[in-house]
Amino acid sequence: MAQPVDPERRLTPVIRLAPAKVNLTLAVLGRRRDGYHDLHSVMVPLGLADRLAVSRSTPGAGDSLHVDGFDPGPTAENLVLRAIAAGRRVAQPASGRVEPLAPLAIRLDKRIPIAAGLAGGSSDAAAAIDAALEAWGVDVDPGTRVGLAAGLGSDVPFFLAGGPALVEGRGERLTPLPWLRDASDAEDRPGLLLVTPAVGLATPASFELWDAGMTSPGGAARLVSAHLADELRSGLGLADLMARASVLAAANDLAPAAAALEPGLVPFKRALLRLLARPVGLSGSGPTHWALYPSLDEAAVAADLVRGAHAAGELPAPGGQAPFVAATRILGRRDAARRAG
Ligand code: C5P
Repeated sequence: MAQPVDPERRLTPVIRLAPAKVNLTLAVLGRRRDGYHDLHSVMVPLGLADRLAVSRSTPGAGDSLHVDGFDPGPTAENLVLRAIAAGRRVAQPASGRVEPLAPLAIRLDKRIPIAAGLAGGSSDAAAAIDAALEAWGVDVDPGTRVGLAAGLGSDVPFFLAGGPALVEGRGERLTPLPWLRDASDAEDRPGLLLVTPAVGLATPASFELWDAGMTSPGGAARLVSAHLADELRSGLGLADLMARASVLAAANDLAPAAAALEPGLVPFKRALLRLLARPVGLSGSGPTHWALYPSLDEAAVAADLVRGAHAAGELPAPGGQAPFVAATRILGRRDAARRAG
């Protein structure tokens, strides 16, 4: 449906925060005919976010992308530009206009590490579609948005859910989940520590090892994942979530593949466990490790501990560089909506 274009929009960039995610659970159910894998995963968005500023440029110019922060590689291959191009193909007929939709200039501040299991690139793509449609003054129906997102990558649709969600299929089937029943009265709860060693892990390689039989035994991740989704629906509280941290940390079917692809992750995780004395999980296909804390402050103290241990040579660092370390929040639906607006 075409909407009137606010002339101010030509001058004012559309700003979007593109949050990172972690998988609190990740069960791989099986390989599909199309080569992808069916998943069952509880995913949550985080306070850690990239920032996009999208402006209309002069007609005739191409779309452009300028990136600060973490280096995502060649600009021409960036998913943001592919998202804008795909968005334009859908938005042009939906706009009902004859003249071509304006080219866009995008500035991307990358604060989420690349190829880390945090889906930063996928989140950027979802945010870019949303910002582009607003910059053009065009709206498309939710089904079209999900189709557009799924065409760009399996993790992209999750970021349209705007909060914690159960993710199924190859990533395109989303069921929004309520977040903790008692999280609303204390804004910073729960906190999450992220530690990302400087090794790139290729997601396809992890799934290939899963195909070869390298996975967690007994379908436990599937049970834990279904249980967590049910419990969130029936009003899980913060203390209950903390009590389940060790079970959740073990519920990732791609963790054995990550350890096989990068054996240095095994002593790294062992050292983290010793240092933090609490459960440590892996997000997606890795290599980001996470640990849950009752508050952001406690996660921040743990982040200092990890940085100090690395500086003192007490934390092995696969990849030969300091790991990325951050304390962040898990965003409920309300927080995510507030930040997007
Ligand atoms: O969809 P996306 O391009 O992010 O996926 C990257 C790769 O990860 C796919 O080519 C596929 O090898 C693997 N994948 C999978 N099953 C999924 C998601 C990703 O096999 N559900």
